[in-house]
Amino acid sequence: MSNIGDPKSAEFLARRDAARERIDRLTGADGGDAEDRQTWFRAVYREAGGDPAAVPWADLAPKKALVDWLARNPGNGASALDVACGLGDNAEALASAGYRTTAFDLAPEAIDWAKKRFPESTVDYQAADLFALPENWTDKFDLVHECYTLQALKDPMRHDAIGVLAGLVAPGGRLLMITRSRGEGSDAKGPPWPMMPSEWLRFTEHGLTLIDEDYYNVERPDRTIPHVMALFRKPE
Ligand SMILES: C[S@@+](CC[C@H](N)C(=O)[O-])C[C@H]1O[C@@H](n2cnc3c(N)ncnc32)[C@H](O)[C@@H]1O
Repeated sequence: MSNIGDPKSAEFLARRDAARERIDRLTGADGGDAEDRQTWFRAVYREAGGDPAAVPWADLAPKKALVDWLARNPGNGASALDVACGLGDNAEALASAGYRTTAFDLAPEAIDWAKKRFPESTVDYQAADLFALPENWTDKFDLVHECYTLQALKDPMRHDAIGVLAGLVAPGGRLLMITRSRGEGSDAKGPPWPMMPSEWLRFTEHGLTLIDEDYYNVERPDRTIPHVMALFRKPE
């Protein structure tokens, strides 16, 4: 689709609502097992037919919280991994901030789309499953950035993914997580399923230390969505 329109326009948002109704009916939309969920993510990208309005999480811009953090934490040639990169906006922000960036997503459809959107990119885009990553990625990246993937997974996948992500951080490196948040013990009606503090603190069970937590709200016309950006470090 060549004329996608302004992502904030009523016309774009109407296409998004229509797509949401369609994809909410697909197997795996409300959870299911790992295979159902993976099938659903791939179907969303495939059925979008090149229209980003039909990919509910595609903002077509990097997350503001990430951009603000990168302004204070430039890469200066350090390596970064963008986890489950979708259409690539956050990965491009990491690269623009001076990180040698690798980005992966389960869906080859998303990876092809990201490469098409950013033909001059220095990002190394790869199709890969979080639960079957190359062995030589263990302890490899100075910065691992994860945005909105954990909140899209339920336990046991969420629990397992936290262990995988922690393992990707190089000694002395950092992990930056951006997610919707909810109070400890409160209900989550997803997807997405906002995370509780005790869930992101599971990173500490995998050897990381929590060094910062920034709680903030994302305002929508009809609601306020609590978020957290949490930063962890792996000891040298
Ligand atoms: C809610 S989207 C977030 C995309 C992007 N990180 C962002 O901030 O816009 C979740 C992404 O996770 C990807 N994903 C889901 N399960 C995955 C897995 N097992 N391995 C890699 N990527 C996965 C989906 O294809 C989708 O692009």
